[in-house]
Amino acid sequence: MKNKFLYSHNLLMIVQILIFFCISYNRVTSSPTSSNTFGYIKSSCATTLYPSFCYESLSRYEAIVNSNPRTLALTALSVAFNSTSSALKLLKNIERSHPGWSKPGEVASLLECVEVVGDSVFELQRSLSRLNHTESGYNFVVQMDDVQTWVSAALTDDDTCIDDFIVNGNMKIVVRGLILKIARLASVALAFINKYAGV
Ligand SMILES: *[C@@H]1O[C@H](CO)[C@@H](O)[C@H](O)[C@H]1NC(C)=O
Ligand SMILES: *[C@@H]1O[C@H](CO)[C@@H](O)[C@H](O)[C@H]1NC(C)=O
Repeated sequence: MKNKFLYSHNLLMIVQILIFFCISYNRVTSSPTSSNTFGYIKSSCATTLYPSFCYESLSRYEAIVNSNPRTLALTALSVAFNSTSSALKLLKNIERSHPGWSKPGEVASLLECVEVVGDSVFELQRSLSRLNHTESGYNFVVQMDDVQTWVSAALTDDDTCIDDFIVNGNMKIVVRGLILKIARLASVALAFINKYAGV
């Protein structure tokens, strides 16, 4: 009975993880792009560390971004925040279902990941709110400096989860997959924030 429960719980979790990875790709194909802004996201993404990943994640927002550096930074940050929040939920689900598949030491690493990714969500949330309420003008530089600091901190938190995950095994593989995605999204957002701040 208990095993059956764990089995279905794990299965549900695996399905959730697959959805997490697929969602950005599915949306790409159904995105309406307006012809006058076509290419802005692609050329902007080309300047990041992960050009094709960036484009796959953001091309559906071409019309919303509308070739505007501020909207691009805001959208990339919003995508990073939303994905990091979803990843945190998945990590918590993995933590709840761990008895079925954990090795000694994995649970401690997982708990640390829940904590640091939680910090990352917090940093991204306040960055998003600050960036969304900033307009060029008074105190712009100081405010952008805060946003840059917080997004960098979120990126460091993501890295900490993986760097401190000592035990190699299935759990690390799954967690690493989740973290790589959110760390890349944060890195892309930071690149666009830096670019906007320099405008
Ligand atoms: C992030 O999630 C919020 C709430 O679900 C949603 O309104 C917003 O559009 C999402 N951001 C992006 C860029 O998809
Ligand atoms: C920015 O703030 C406005 C309202 O002030 C809100 O409607 C919008 O969803 C926010 N955008 C993001 C990306 O959070």
